[in-house]
Amino acid sequence: NIAKDLGLDFSQLSARKARIDPEDDNTQLCGINLNTGDLLVQERIDREGLCGKKALCVLKQELVLENPIQLHRISIRVVDINDNAPQFNEDSLKIEIRESADKGERFLLREAHDGDIGENAVQSYALQQNDQFKLHVNTKSGGRKYCELVLDKELDREDKKDIMLLLTAYDGGSPQRSGTVVIHVTVLDANDNVPVFSQPVYKASLPENSPLDTLVVTVSASDADEGVNSEISYAFDHASDDNINVFRLHPKTGEVRVSGVVDYEKITSHEMQISAVDGLGLISYSSLIIDVIDTNDNYPVVQLKSLSNSMAENVSPGTEVGLVNVQDRDSEQNGQVRCSIPQNVPFKLVPSIKNYYSLVTTGQLDRELVSEYNITISATDEGSPPLSTSKSIHLTVADINDNPPVFEEQSYSAYVSENNKAGSTLCSVSARDPDWRQNGTVIYSLLPSEVNGAPASSYVSVNGDTGVIHAVRSFDYEHLRSFQVHVMARDNGSPPLSSNVSVSVFISDVNDNSPQILYPAPEGNSFMTELVPKAAHGGSVVSKVIAVDADSGQNAWLSYHIVKSTDPGLFTIGLHSGEIRTQRDISESDSMKQNLIVAVKDNGQPPLSATCSMYLLISDNLAEVPELKDISYDDKNSKLTSYLIIALVSVSTFFLTFIIIVLGVRFCRRRKPRLLFDGAVAIPGAYLPPNYADVDGTGTLRSTYNDDAYLTTGSRTSDFKFVSSYNDNTLPAGQTLRKSPSDFDEMFGDAEGSTEV
Ligand SMILES: *[C@@H]1O[C@H](CO)[C@@H](O)[C@H](O)[C@H]1NC(C)=O
Ligand SMILES: *[C@@H]1O[C@H](CO)[C@@H](O)[C@H](O)[C@H]1NC(C)=O
Ligand SMILES: *[C@@H]1O[C@H](CO)[C@@H](O)[C@H](O)[C@H]1NC(C)=O
Repeated sequence: NIAKDLGLDFSQLSARKARIDPEDDNTQLCGINLNTGDLLVQERIDREGLCGKKALCVLKQELVLENPIQLHRISIRVVDINDNAPQFNEDSLKIEIRESADKGERFLLREAHDGDIGENAVQSYALQQNDQFKLHVNTKSGGRKYCELVLDKELDREDKKDIMLLLTAYDGGSPQRSGTVVIHVTVLDANDNVPVFSQPVYKASLPENSPLDTLVVTVSASDADEGVNSEISYAFDHASDDNINVFRLHPKTGEVRVSGVVDYEKITSHEMQISAVDGLGLISYSSLIIDVIDTNDNYPVVQLKSLSNSMAENVSPGTEVGLVNVQDRDSEQNGQVRCSIPQNVPFKLVPSIKNYYSLVTTGQLDRELVSEYNITISATDEGSPPLSTSKSIHLTVADINDNPPVFEEQSYSAYVSENNKAGSTLCSVSARDPDWRQNGTVIYSLLPSEVNGAPASSYVSVNGDTGVIHAVRSFDYEHLRSFQVHVMARDNGSPPLSSNVSVSVFISDVNDNSPQILYPAPEGNSFMTELVPKAAHGGSVVSKVIAVDADSGQNAWLSYHIVKSTDPGLFTIGLHSGEIRTQRDISESDSMKQNLIVAVKDNGQPPLSATCSMYLLISDNLAEVPELKDISYDDKNSKLTSYLIIALVSVSTFFLTFIIIVLGVRFCRRRKPRLLFDGAVAIPGAYLPPNYADVDGTGTLRSTYNDDAYLTTGSRTSDFKFVSSYNDNTLPAGQTLRKSPSDFDEMFGDAEGSTEV
């Protein structure tokens, strides 16, 4: 109360127009109650507004009184109250700290401001609880507090890149006021991280022969740093050429691609170290293992390790003739090789030690059938698809003398006409020997034997080289109709092999013998007369001409003709029988003496013939013979009578002698009854023509050689039956036309028998 303090009277205040004026031109903060004299606060007084940070804030006022003017100074001390809270200027405090900052490093923080002073000003700071920082509060000269962030634990940008902390500033007033700010700590990167591969070992597999640029694997490393610190480039680290030439690693993308030939057979697994380097050179390593997967890209290889090019045909089955090696560079199934040869050869492959096969024979070889073999060995692996190769080998079979010469025919026959020239060719034999060279060279020779008691070589000879058989001498059919020799064929092997064959030589007849008249005796040699009874009727047989021919067949087929006769009409002769018959009854007028000239002709080409004369006496008894003297046939018959007598005597004598001889001979050689006789004539069997004997044996007419046909036993009228039957052109029924070798024996037997007679 100013009035009281100054001792003024209240009542005068209003009259004296008391008022408070600010000293300076300040705003009117205070007034005075004119009634009471109290100093009043008229406006809000803000110390901070008036004095700011001044420690002493005095508000200078003047009390002005008029009537009289009186001036009193009033000093009003404004006392601070805590009406301001600490305050930070910024919304947030941004701090960048390198992550590499050391522990204990300090970072000054901006202060908080508080309008108040003294205790009411900022007195302390507090930091939100955290792991990283602590707060260190200092006092400046003048009592101002400031604070520092102290790194309590190393930062890791990669762990926490931004840290938000709440910083609170407290004043000392009461009540206490505070202000907060957010501290935004940004952790700056340092290249403190090495690149890190995503895997310690990269494994990949790749088929061999993969095309260029095939992606094998992508490696990747990460770097926790940022910016250039995390820029990674990849590379192979100390890789060998083998790897470098096959793969390439993209430095940025980390893609591993094929850049060369991937060959399993060369390298089955590529193992490389790869590196990742970040921008500032921090490096790390990883391994890359690329397994190459085999593909069936290699053909099997067949090699002949030993081969006997030639084997003898007599090698026993199972003989090894070659050794074959088979290889395939691929592995596993792709390298498993099966070997085979065709089924149709007498060989097989026998698996031997690993990858080796023996080629052995499975059967008997025969050079004469197959002299060489081309064997194709096929080797196929078990890959998919399989690969196969084949190899041809050539084997020859060497000869062994295992085949004897073989004659082309079982037996040979040669036909030759008698009277051949010595040296003429009979036939030729031929033998084949399929063996090789001298083992198959055939040489012919005659085996020693006897023909007719003489060595065969005196009959025939054989050409050793050609097998042509020659006659050594001229053959006589009438002596030898056939014979047999043996020819041997021998090869030149060692030891030689041989075989033999029989050669039959058949000699054929030539008409070289003229008919021989046995009865009547040839003209001039004897004098024979046939008696013809006067009472003979026409057609009765009065006589017979008997002739033989040493030849055979047609050459011995005789025909009879009367070439001249006294009375041509009286007698006739059987063309083939030679029987002389009366043609008509004898009459008294017929001449007593009849003379016939008979020609006997064979059927050969050209024919040969013989003639004879036959004297016939027509009379009933010989007593009339003397009369014969008178009977004259012609001039030449003048001596007929005496001839006739001589003839009769001769015939009788001859007849008797002949019987004696015949009986004698038959007695001695009972087995060869070859003499035929009847009545007035005896005919040696030897001279009987063999009749149609055929030499070629193909079934033409031939003689029966039957004794019964020769020997006559009948009546006188059939005396000459054997001749007629022999001359018959018919063949007895049931007789065979075939000729067998025994027939020839018989023939020879006959011939021998006859020669002795
Ligand atoms: C085997 O092969 C050879 C040559 O390749 C050939 O001259 C010969 O005729 C063949 N032999 C057979 C039996 O195929
Ligand atoms: C003939 O055969 C013999 C064995 O019998 C053999 O040793 C020889 O080599 C053969 N000769 C020829 C030319 O093949
Ligand atoms: C002739 O061959 C036969 C069999 O064909 C044989 O028995 C005979 O001994 C051979 N003769 C000679 C002299 O070789």
